[in-house]
Amino acid sequence: MDTSLTRRPALQQPYWPDEMALAEAERELAALPALTTEDEVVDLMRGMALVADGSALVVQGGDCAERFHEAVPELVRQKVDHLQGLAALLRAGSRLPAVAISRIAGQYGKPRSSPFETEDSGRQMPSYCGDAVNDPAFDPVLRVPDPRRLITAYHCSGAVLNELRRSWSGRPIIERVYASHELLLLPYESPLVRGGVRGGYSASTHFGWIGERTRNPGGAHLELAQSVHNPIGVKLGPSTSPQDAVELSRTLNPQGVPGRLAFIARFGAKEVDRLLPPVVEAVAGYGAPVVWLCDPMHGNGLRLAGFKTRLIESMRAEITSFTRILQANGRWPAGLHLELTPDPVTECVSSRSAEPRFTDYRSTCDPRLNPEQSVELVAHFLTLL
Ligand code: PEP
Ligand code: CO
Repeated sequence: MDTSLTRRPALQQPYWPDEMALAEAERELAALPALTTEDEVVDLMRGMALVADGSALVVQGGDCAERFHEAVPELVRQKVDHLQGLAALLRAGSRLPAVAISRIAGQYGKPRSSPFETEDSGRQMPSYCGDAVNDPAFDPVLRVPDPRRLITAYHCSGAVLNELRRSWSGRPIIERVYASHELLLLPYESPLVRGGVRGGYSASTHFGWIGERTRNPGGAHLELAQSVHNPIGVKLGPSTSPQDAVELSRTLNPQGVPGRLAFIARFGAKEVDRLLPPVVEAVAGYGAPVVWLCDPMHGNGLRLAGFKTRLIESMRAEITSFTRILQANGRWPAGLHLELTPDPVTECVSSRSAEPRFTDYRSTCDPRLNPEQSVELVAHFLTLL
């Protein structure tokens, strides 16, 4: 591992009290086999190159936070089949190939707006940062970041990837479901950067993204993304200036490789019309190819009856604005990035329902779309193309 990776400022890293255990976990990860192959990464890059060129679409989606106990074949199959179904819907509605990328096999680390959480009783404890860090239960002891969880994350990801690959059999390369997660936890990601024939690649996933909170220039996360040749994404939120976006394109895709870089816009329905057009215009003017995806989830959060939720109407509105803005700039609105589940949950709601009822709320982090809601948003996106 290139140790310079750890010298840059790294935001959103949990405080690991046991430094020796953390160093031991990093050494162990560095000695474990790659989870993904360079060939798989290159296959996805080919699909993303078609997307960059405007001749294919993308649906990226899955849990906000995966759970370790869900790394079992039956549940993985359900998630993969569900995303496959949404990709089939996109294909049928657009008559174009659709690349399916799940938030799976490594989505175990979460950035948090506050490092601490206060329980109803008033008791404070470290926030839940994903299963790779701590346990979501309201227990101050279980919330202490435990480096052994990074090793468990590796083994769970491996089991999930095996099941994912089983679903590939007999399918053309472009119709496979690929894996993705946020490249957040550096003690996990850095040891899994491996040397390939074409240079370094992230062997923790196929597609990795840098979050809105860790895309700071000169930061450790950008350096990590620069050190790998996987297709990568960057989340762009309301604080993104046109210059920031151009700089990200310059830094992360200096050669202008089609499919290498996706910008995942998550401005929120209220701000997207004002803030996205200058960003798209500047990136288009700069000229390097970028895949534009719409994340209508992360800019539209609100709290209702004590639950974190999102309104379907706001998400529809952001998808409409995103698509229109890209089209107005002669760019391809390449697809959607969603938080979703095959389970019939009630985590996102409609403003039409008189009193939203959260009768089946299971997410340990952000609210996800249930299958009916995911289909509604994908179908809505299709009407705009
Ligand atoms: C996420 O995708 O779960 C996430 C935290 O997104 P963002 O970085 O856009 O807030
Ligand atoms: Co989320």
